[in-house]
Amino acid sequence: MEKKNLDWANLGFGYMMADYRYVSNYKDGKWDDGEITTDANITLNECAGVFQYAQTCFEGLKAYTTEDGHIVCFRPDLNAQRMVDSCERLKMPVFPVERFIDAVEKVVKANEAWVPPFGSGATLYIRPYMIATNPVIGVKPATEYQFRIFVTPVGPYFKGGAKPLTIRVSDYDRAAPCGTGHIKAGLNYAMSLYPIVDAHEQGFDENMYLDPATRTKVEETGGANFIFITKDGKLVTPKSDSILPSITRRSLMVVAEKYLGMEVEHREVLLEELKDFAECGLCGTAAVISPVGKINDHGTEICFPSGMEEMGPTTKKLYETLTGIQMGKLEAPEGWVKVIV
Ligand code: PLP
Ligand code: COI
Repeated sequence: MEKKNLDWANLGFGYMMADYRYVSNYKDGKWDDGEITTDANITLNECAGVFQYAQTCFEGLKAYTTEDGHIVCFRPDLNAQRMVDSCERLKMPVFPVERFIDAVEKVVKANEAWVPPFGSGATLYIRPYMIATNPVIGVKPATEYQFRIFVTPVGPYFKGGAKPLTIRVSDYDRAAPCGTGHIKAGLNYAMSLYPIVDAHEQGFDENMYLDPATRTKVEETGGANFIFITKDGKLVTPKSDSILPSITRRSLMVVAEKYLGMEVEHREVLLEELKDFAECGLCGTAAVISPVGKINDHGTEICFPSGMEEMGPTTKKLYETLTGIQMGKLEAPEGWVKVIV
């Protein structure tokens, strides 16, 4: 199978139109059989629920080429389950877990030529999503939906790859208590656009959102969870009902404990204690693990001892172990790696 002729090593995190996508439609209370198509465009009524009341949610996962030439993806069952949770909260019909995994497999297989080669530094980003498609004008759930998956080859989410990021503490909130922060609703990202553009204009890479109720606890950024390493080598990750339960973060907690013998704490993290950590990073499918060198809290800088030049040593170990598992260099825990080709 011949690969596309792309400059794999220099891809950014952007959309490139691949050859095939998966589509399934929901009508009269059921999903159709679904199919792979070549049509990248969607034509909808002007009053479709997705346009009026943002009834949409999505997922993000990746496919990797392993050293021995297989194409695999990482824990797609957890993405499928999180999408079930998103759909339930948004009153959308659930796309069954088994069908989600099957659709991922079909769309990756169809686009094998777009899966970056092993060692290129690039991966195939897989974007499943669901939209409300029939006209809705009173505020209520739609009755018709479309589930789609497209893929696009990507490089690092943050320009500069492993160069430590500078984050600022945001004055805006990402998610309300008892709101939708714990699911992957499109609306969560719409409301993060103003603060992220503003952060970039002010010279920061990302926003650190705090808990909206007390503004004393660390939540997450617009697209990744935080990890912290204490001076005595523990992994600490913030716990809150309004944080998106990152699959990368949940996996890192296992990697830290089972592969690296570290102590792991999943608990509330106070803004006040940031200055005591040795290392900080962002984790997510897109971000993988991106080191954070500095956090700016309204002019007060918290500089981590790991500095602004390279990833901290423990973050690096976590990064190498996780990507080693994803790329098939290290043995994965049972069920983590799904072989597609
Ligand atoms: N937090 C937010 C708000 C996200 O959008 C993402 C990306 O999916 C993550 C965290 C990381 O989650 P995961 O590791 O499942 O990709
Ligand atoms: C991901 O990591 O998959 C995300 O969805 C983060 C961002 C691109 C929204």
